[in-house]
Amino acid sequence: MQIKIFENYEEMSVAAADALLALLAREAAPLLGLATGSTPIAMYQELIRRRDEIENLKYVKTVNLDEYLGLPADHPQSYRYFMQEQLFKCLGLAPGQSHFPHADSLDPKEAEAAAEAYEAQLLELGPQTVQILGLGENGHIGFNEPADVFIPATHVVDLAEGTIQANSRFFASREEVPRQAITMGIAGIMRAREVFLLVSGEKKADALARALYGPISPQLPASILQLHPKLTVFCDRAAAELLNPAQ
Ligand code: F6R
Repeated sequence: MQIKIFENYEEMSVAAADALLALLAREAAPLLGLATGSTPIAMYQELIRRRDEIENLKYVKTVNLDEYLGLPADHPQSYRYFMQEQLFKCLGLAPGQSHFPHADSLDPKEAEAAAEAYEAQLLELGPQTVQILGLGENGHIGFNEPADVFIPATHVVDLAEGTIQANSRFFASREEVPRQAITMGIAGIMRAREVFLLVSGEKKADALARALYGPISPQLPASILQLHPKLTVFCDRAAAELLNPAQ
């Protein structure tokens, strides 16, 4: 595990973009595992600013971690829409290059089938060259919420109350936040050849310290990353506040 601590969010984001551009330059046809949320936005902006450096852009494929259940793909808060607006259209990626779970139906059977179909697609596309992750305040990665067991495959998940509360900032009201999502499972994340975990702000400091140095437990899903052979943590000083290098 490599932990890189930066003075602030901007420096962290530029460093993560640098590392991603270096990986992109090394791979003929990279598969990028991407995350939504606030944390990767500045890294995506840096990639867009330097898109001329990405020579193999038309051979890049992407898979996203998760999608809310019950939002149509063109809903402004759907993760597909977010990625389209924040990154894909600015890089000029064609629709066929990016992949998401098809989570528009709330019907339980259809949702399960969509999760299975996404898992099959992930396996077919192969391991991610790199998986970008943010960190939930409760230690979630993707939407793998604290639970009694780690769930390996893509699955339908009930969002934790804290996640609904945290994500209500993107919706007009808390009531509008979807209660369920489809998320890549823990095995899907751990399959990635490299993982970049991006963490910013003091609100994440406790989850980050427990993820990196606490016991590995499904109650803090990010703790599984301690077992990943190639994890790089990019964090700012505020998020790193409780990290004790002696551990
Ligand atoms: C997003 C995702 C989530 C977020 C996490 C942190 O696709 O899977 O795990 O990375 O909730 O969100 P932000 O970055 O908004 O604090």
